[in-house]
Amino acid sequence: MELNRRTVIAGAAAAGIAATALGGVAEASTSGGKKPTKKVFGTLADGTEVHLWSLANGGTRLKVLDYGGIVQSLEIPDRRGRYTNVSLGFDNIEDYVAKSPYFGALIGRFGNRIGKGQFTLDGKSYQVDVNDGANSLHGGSKGFDKHVWSVEPFAKGSDVGLYLRYTSADGEMGYPGTLKVKVTYTLTRHGDWRIDYEATTDKATVVNLTNHVYWNLAGESSGTIYDHELEIDAARYTPVDSGLIPTGELARVAGTPFDFRRAKTVGEDIRVAHQQLLYGKGLDHNWVLDKGITSRPAPVATLRDPSSGRTLTISTTEPGLQFYSGNFLDGTLVGSGGTVYRQGDGMCLETQHFPDSPNKPNFPSTVLRPGQTYRSTTVHSFDC
Ligand code: GLA
Repeated sequence: MELNRRTVIAGAAAAGIAATALGGVAEASTSGGKKPTKKVFGTLADGTEVHLWSLANGGTRLKVLDYGGIVQSLEIPDRRGRYTNVSLGFDNIEDYVAKSPYFGALIGRFGNRIGKGQFTLDGKSYQVDVNDGANSLHGGSKGFDKHVWSVEPFAKGSDVGLYLRYTSADGEMGYPGTLKVKVTYTLTRHGDWRIDYEATTDKATVVNLTNHVYWNLAGESSGTIYDHELEIDAARYTPVDSGLIPTGELARVAGTPFDFRRAKTVGEDIRVAHQQLLYGKGLDHNWVLDKGITSRPAPVATLRDPSSGRTLTISTTEPGLQFYSGNFLDGTLVGSGGTVYRQGDGMCLETQHFPDSPNKPNFPSTVLRPGQTYRSTTVHSFDC
C-alpha cells in the first residue's frame, strides 16, 4: 500500500509513535511546531557571524541561513517515511560566499535578467550592475543573496517561521529608492513552506523578488532530475535571445518542448534540437502562467519523483515561473552531502514577474511607487 505522508505522520501520532521512529524529528508532529532555534554556521571575512536556523512542522524540516535567507536544507519524507534533503546547497559558508549559483537564496532586487542592466522609469534612465555577460542577473553582483538579513523567529498558532528583513539603500546596485524588504518563511502544520514577500520604497523603482531553491526530490546527491515528472499550467512561455533576454513574444507551448500542460518527465524533450534549448543549454525559461496575477496563491506547477513518491506543488500569486533545469552545474561544486553536482542534478522553479519586464511594456509591470506595498506569496506543498 502506498502511504500519503500526512497519513504516515498522522498515523504515527495516533499510535503514539514519536516521529523520530519514522526518521523524523520530535517536532515533526501535527500538533504545531516549536519555536525555531539557531546556531553559528560560520564567519564571513569581515568577522560577521552567520547563523543557521532550524524549523520543523507538519513533517517538514527546514534550515535557513541569515546570509541570503538561504534554504540550506529542506527535508521531507518519502512514501515510506524516510527523510532526505531535497534542496541543493553547501555545508560551509565559504562556498556560499565564493561560488554559489544562488543555491536556496532570496533573490532581489530584481529576480532574473534585465537587458544590458538598463531601463527607463518616469523618463529617467538607470544603469544597474551588469554581472551576466552584457546583462544584469538576480539583482547584480551583490544581490539580496549576498547580504546578512535580520531574522526574527516566531511560533503562532500552529505555524512556525522566520521574519527576514533587509533594507537596500537608495542606489544599491544602481537601483533607485530605499527598499525595505520583509520576507516571511512559514512552515504550516501541514508541512507547507510558504513565502510572503513585502517591500516598500521611497522613490519609484522596479522590484521582482523570488527564491532560488534547487529541487531534487530524490535527494540532493542522488543524480539528475530528468526522471522527475513536471506539470506547469501555462499555454505560453517567453522565448529568449542568445543572452536569455525575452524577445517580448508570448509564444504558444503547443507542439514544442515547452509544453508541460500534461505531466511529462523533465528529460523527455530536453535534448530536442530546438533553438531555445540551445540558447538555454537546456530549459531556462519563463512560463506565462494561465491564471495570471492573483490576489491569493493558486496552484501552477507540480513536480513528482516517481521513485520516492515525493511531490511538490507550487502555488503562487505571481504571473510567471522560471523553470531552470540546472544547466550550468558543471561538476565543479561539492554539495552538502559530499558529492559533486553535475548538470541537471537540481532544478529551480522560480515564481516571479517576467524577465526584463522594465523594458517590455507588454509584460505585467514590476514598478513599485512610494505609498504602495509590493506583495507576493508562494506556497510549496509536499506530499508522497
Ligand atoms: C537563473 C537563471 C539561469 C542561471 C541560474 C544560476 O535561474 O535563469 O540562467 O543563471 O539562475 O546559475
